[in-house]
Amino acid sequence: MLRHRLRRPAALGFVALLTLAALLPACSDGPVGKDGWLRGDTQAKLDTVAKHLRGTDLAMIEIDHRYHELWWAGVDENWEYAEYQLEKIEYALRNALERRPKRAESAKVFLSTMPAFRQPVLNRDAEVFRGIYSQMTALCNACHELEVLGHMWVEPPTERMSSIHRKPVAPPAESEQ
Ligand code: HEC
Repeated sequence: MLRHRLRRPAALGFVALLTLAALLPACSDGPVGKDGWLRGDTQAKLDTVAKHLRGTDLAMIEIDHRYHELWWAGVDENWEYAEYQLEKIEYALRNALERRPKRAESAKVFLSTMPAFRQPVLNRDAEVFRGIYSQMTALCNACHELEVLGHMWVEPPTERMSSIHRKPVAPPAESEQ
């Protein structure tokens, strides 16, 4: 029946697919990654990858970096960079909460305040930005308190950490001086 209904290339593709499907479970049990560091069946491999992906701690190191950068972006009035940092703070936090859902409740107020954090950035308003930045700091700390991490006290940065600055405006050409 099959032979009549499928043309030859299609039939060959079908057989290749069946072979692949038969081989897949065997393949997924073999070690993968450089020098085969990921071992065990698919479940064990995914568990290992999940462990390496980490929970909240690495995400917080990323969020902390972005929180710093957000401050200096505001000081420089480099609003596009500030927008970018806000977007990534939310993305990193949401992904962390997907991995550690029991922390989600503590982050609710922080996340629901994201639009307010964004407003002065969209309005390019440096003064309002400073106020909203203190509000963000307070909400970082509020979540830490709820997570019984009051000793991880967040304060705005005092020094620049990264190489990103506002692009200097090109000096006027010689003839215009
Ligand atoms: C879920 C609510 C939550 C919010 C919101 C939050 N944090 Fe955290 N933060 C945590 C938790 C939980 C840890 C501890 C992680 C762990 O124990 O694995 C942490 C740890 C940290 C650490 C220490 C990371 C390390 O391992 O060295 C820093 C830095 C940090 N947070 C900065 C911030 C900043 C800055 C903000 C705000 C922009 C913020 N956090 C917002 C929950 C939160």
